[in-house]
Amino acid sequence: MPFLSVCATAICLLTLHHAHASVGVLDINNLLEPNLDSKLLTHHEEQRPYAPWSHKPHCTTSTRLPTLGQKYCVYTSNTTGPHGLSLIFPPSSAHLATEYLDDNPLDSFLTQAEAENLFLGDGPPWTIVDIPGKDKGVVATRKIKQYETFMVDQAAVVVDMEAEKALSQKENQNLLKVAVDRLLVPEMIRDMSGKHEGHKHKTAGEKEGFAGADDREEEDEEEGKLEEDVMKTNAFGGTVAEVNSRVLYPLISRINHACAPNSFVLFSRAGVSMAIKAYRDIAPGEEITISYLLLGIPFAKRQHLIHRWGFTCTCDLCSLPERQREASDLRRTMIAQAEEKMIELAEAGEFDDAVALAEEAVEMIREEGIYPTLTDSYAMLAMLYREKGDRAKSEEYGRKTQQLLGDLGFLGVGEERQAWSLEKMMGNIEESGGIGSKWTKGPAKA
Ligand SMILES: *[C@@H]1O[C@H](CO)[C@@H](O)[C@H](O)[C@H]1NC(C)=O
Repeated sequence: MPFLSVCATAICLLTLHHAHASVGVLDINNLLEPNLDSKLLTHHEEQRPYAPWSHKPHCTTSTRLPTLGQKYCVYTSNTTGPHGLSLIFPPSSAHLATEYLDDNPLDSFLTQAEAENLFLGDGPPWTIVDIPGKDKGVVATRKIKQYETFMVDQAAVVVDMEAEKALSQKENQNLLKVAVDRLLVPEMIRDMSGKHEGHKHKTAGEKEGFAGADDREEEDEEEGKLEEDVMKTNAFGGTVAEVNSRVLYPLISRINHACAPNSFVLFSRAGVSMAIKAYRDIAPGEEITISYLLLGIPFAKRQHLIHRWGFTCTCDLCSLPERQREASDLRRTMIAQAEEKMIELAEAGEFDDAVALAEEAVEMIREEGIYPTLTDSYAMLAMLYREKGDRAKSEEYGRKTQQLLGDLGFLGVGEERQAWSLEKMMGNIEESGGIGSKWTKGPAKA
């Protein structure tokens, strides 16, 4: 199950470990929850026996080993985010998740000026339209600038991956059905299923003839098969409240896939919120695309992985003439293997060769247009030059790492981003470099 992330390697992830706390800049929650009447809310607060949940948890107990007796319940907070939020979690995880219910995208991804720009004035710079040859898609309604954060959303359904193993398919479907029913607009979620539309056509067409078929279809809907289908074709792997989960962010699923996308997804640390940012300038009328897969994957693997969303990859990169496709695959494979080779070289004290390889990797990454991967190479070069004793070069690459991570949104927004000094970045690179200790083969640093 793919994670949407710009960070492909351990270094990058570790470099970011301390990043991305939230910064509270403004309180315009209501703009995200236009239906929320504050008087109503107070009224509800008074009579919410399951607070912070809005509904009584609906539970099923596992009868399978090794999870025998473990409860999985639907926990819904219908005042969280624009869709409401339903978690299918064990009680202990749900308890931990309560502190993330106020994980608002406005806190993680936008400065006050950006938020105002996005929600006030002309509103968001995108719209959902029918795309010929595809179901629906999202297109830009004005120019979107490189690295602009132009769409935010929050999770609607989160399912602990363990629940799939601990419960039967039918039990999972039942929980999903309850989870979706309790959201603010369940129909919007069910509409994401291709089967749902098929269902509508079929029942309309078959009304006169086969009542039997009709009943079966309706039964499907009652049992939560549609909801299961929606999760299968639209949810992403992610970590919410530290639980490895399948997560449905309704807006993401409106954006189509491309292997060379113009935009990317950023998750908040708690995993409940997400934002879409532009990799490059996007022209008005251009379709917004993201990669459902990690960037940099070769053709055959792309085709294989993309299948779980029920389509074949036909984007430009997948449609290249065979020779060019092979050249692209070769570069991708070399990029993927470069890090390990660099570490081997560095361990052998061959720093010049390691640097040459890292610089080659930077070149190939540019050719493939998978720029976020550059953060890894830059961090690697900063470390390698430090080992070589070239302080100026090391800092140059430290600065490049910081600049790109910042542009990509990984260092937070506003003051938080400003707080990332070069020293802090270099310290982090060094620390995360556990790599340094690998090179010297000495005892691991404390
Ligand atoms: C949220 O759930 C409560 C409790 O079931 C319900 O009374 C309320 O109408 C729901 N709110 C919305 C906006 O659907």
